[in-house]
Amino acid sequence: MTTLIINIKELLQVRETSVAKVSGAEMTTLPTIKNAFLLLKNNLIADFGSMDQIPQVKTDKVIDASGKIVLPSWCDSHTHIVYAGNREQEFVDRINGLTYEEIANRGGGILNSAKKLNETSEDDIYQQSSARLEEVMHLGTGAVEIKSGYGLTVEGELKMLRVIQKLAQNYPITIKATFLGAHAIPREFKENRRGYIDCILNEMLPQISKNKLADYIDVFCETGYFTVAETEEIMEAGIHLGLKPKIHVNQFNSIGGIQAGVKYDALSVDHLEVMTTEDIIALKNTKTMPVALPSCSYFLSIPYTPAREMIAAGLPIALATDYNPGSTPSGNMNFVVATACIKMKMTPEEAINAATINGAYAMGISETHGSITIGKKANLIITKPIPSYYQLPYAFGSNLIDTIIIEGQILA
Ligand code: NIG
Ligand code: FE
Repeated sequence: MTTLIINIKELLQVRETSVAKVSGAEMTTLPTIKNAFLLLKNNLIADFGSMDQIPQVKTDKVIDASGKIVLPSWCDSHTHIVYAGNREQEFVDRINGLTYEEIANRGGGILNSAKKLNETSEDDIYQQSSARLEEVMHLGTGAVEIKSGYGLTVEGELKMLRVIQKLAQNYPITIKATFLGAHAIPREFKENRRGYIDCILNEMLPQISKNKLADYIDVFCETGYFTVAETEEIMEAGIHLGLKPKIHVNQFNSIGGIQAGVKYDALSVDHLEVMTTEDIIALKNTKTMPVALPSCSYFLSIPYTPAREMIAAGLPIALATDYNPGSTPSGNMNFVVATACIKMKMTPEEAINAATINGAYAMGISETHGSITIGKKANLIITKPIPSYYQLPYAFGSNLIDTIIIEGQILA
């Protein structure tokens, strides 16, 4: 199957040779070709260039993209889209004055979702989660990382990871699975946190590894959740079984999670709403991608990741949704890109780099995703006719997507 897209007003994120990530001042540059063509063969990008260099090839399908912009699909490197039910009541409780922390301390929050998940059948969870996956695919996401962490029991965590595995088998979109057993201490272990950590290490991890149910390991390193020492112990156990860490740090407090992530060569450290100068320095010249989740800041009314300071220090940034029932019930990467521009003062170029190439890095798929490069997956967004790519963040809330292509196929 060969598809030729012609008359593209502007083709974004064009990289002749694959780059793993862009950092600091490099993030300002978004390489593009105006009046471009793009050739897809089967599920891959086969060629691209200026319209005056269009090759003479026999094609099965031609798409005229006059007035439209084409870019690689969003890479959403941080989500929790496998969950049961919702937490609407907590949303209203927060409107009425309670904080996220107060709700969690009353047994709500993550434990509320864990209770629902353990009471829901695997099939039902699959149905609920596949609806969310389809929703985000239609919003332009072409690769997604999904975490466990609402089971908090051996069976619950395995059930979540099996659902993620089934989604990966049944949908064309690339999915990476992350084991987040260390998301909260479950009720039954309230007085015995050591017992729960031992359960993660000695019961959950061996089964997950044996059944190849996860690519990455995550820990919610935060006051009231897991300490830095516990985070290090859990990361170490994961690494021992081949799971690279991608961890939740600095959402509410800076307690040393970033330094722990860097020490264990985490692929990413995510959230970063509360950042000290030391935290920024710790990330310099490391392989660890800082990931910002602006929809979470928006929904919980907490600080936004200080992108400007981080980019000025030469760091890269990736953007992701954090789609989950508690802190971010939205998986819309278009909103994330807009919010990064509006609230974090990232430029459109920086935000698009953060949501494509750097997002791919943060989920370990930069060789196949995140840019228009020959040999990478034909995962694309074709916009409606728009004046320029500035519209993407500027017209926040508008749906500017005309066509989605995943693995070379138009998404119906
Ligand atoms: O990334 N912060 C930890 N975990 C999720 C939220 C969990 C929840 O409230 O259900 C997050 O924001
Ligand atoms: Fe999260």
